[in-house]
Amino acid sequence: MRHFLKETDLSLVETAQVFAAAAALKAGRGKATTPALAQQSWGLMFFKKSTRTRVSFQVGVHELGGQPVMLNAEDLQLTRGETVEDTARVLSRYLHGMVIRCHEHQLLVDFARCGSMPIVNALSDFLHPCQFMTDVFTLAERFAPGHPEKYVESLRGRKFAFLGDTACNMANSYILGGAALGIEIALAGPAGFEPTAEIKAQLQRDGLKPTYTFTTDPAEAVRGADMVYTDVWVSMGMEAEKAARLQIMQPYQVSRALMALAKPSAYFMHCLPAHPGEEVTAEVLASPQSIIFDQAENRLHVQKALLAFLAPA
Ligand code: CP
Ligand code: NVA
Repeated sequence: MRHFLKETDLSLVETAQVFAAAAALKAGRGKATTPALAQQSWGLMFFKKSTRTRVSFQVGVHELGGQPVMLNAEDLQLTRGETVEDTARVLSRYLHGMVIRCHEHQLLVDFARCGSMPIVNALSDFLHPCQFMTDVFTLAERFAPGHPEKYVESLRGRKFAFLGDTACNMANSYILGGAALGIEIALAGPAGFEPTAEIKAQLQRDGLKPTYTFTTDPAEAVRGADMVYTDVWVSMGMEAEKAARLQIMQPYQVSRALMALAKPSAYFMHCLPAHPGEEVTAEVLASPQSIIFDQAENRLHVQKALLAFLAPA
């Protein structure tokens, strides 16, 4: 049984398989396909808000012939003191897999350890691997158009810039996934937002050589980049730091002037939700370089491929 808690839970060969399946599912959407989750029920449990992840997984399970079971964490005995171990063991008797969005990453690890069904990370405070996989798939569609078998290799050697909160879950996913795929990740954020000990330890555990750089100079990070990325400056759970973050991150706003330093062919990406006028200008969000809605759409296709890959036979 396999889980997807972090980018490195799939080998490069498996990533290529998932990308090829996602491309096929995308092309074949609405046409009859093999229902990979037929007779299965998958739990989707959220401890945090979500628009894209919630809906794309719910629709994805349904389109694969399965039944999505939406679980608001607040409604479970888990939030009244029932142990993770008992919850995971009980839910494993009903469900064929679970998709979980939570605060502490350890909860995902504990669910995977105690249960007997595949667990998918739908965002934790540490990582957002479904988003990362989708982002690079979306770029690969452009780097190797019409050739899903070349998607993984089309990413190798690229330079991606990541601006703003360079210590957040999304940045961590770029640091880890970038190292696995051989992508240069140029981070630019304020002092104090350098990559954490936790993500460095993860790279080490996975035996990966880091491929990131960190600078406080946004221009340096963006220069020559194939893609410029940003995420909200105030991640879920960080609301108490809002005022301080909005001020300290101001120099890292992605503007037209900053985009001009990247390659002329560079794309702008954002996992969304965006806050126009904060981490990115409304102009860049709406510019032809912005591929944010293709990126959001691809969550559905890539996650369907991932679910089909993980689904018990
Ligand atoms: N990008 C993303 O995960 O969006 P949601 O928080 O809306 O799911
Ligand atoms: N870093 C953001 C990502 C939202 C998809 C957060 O955790 O809120």
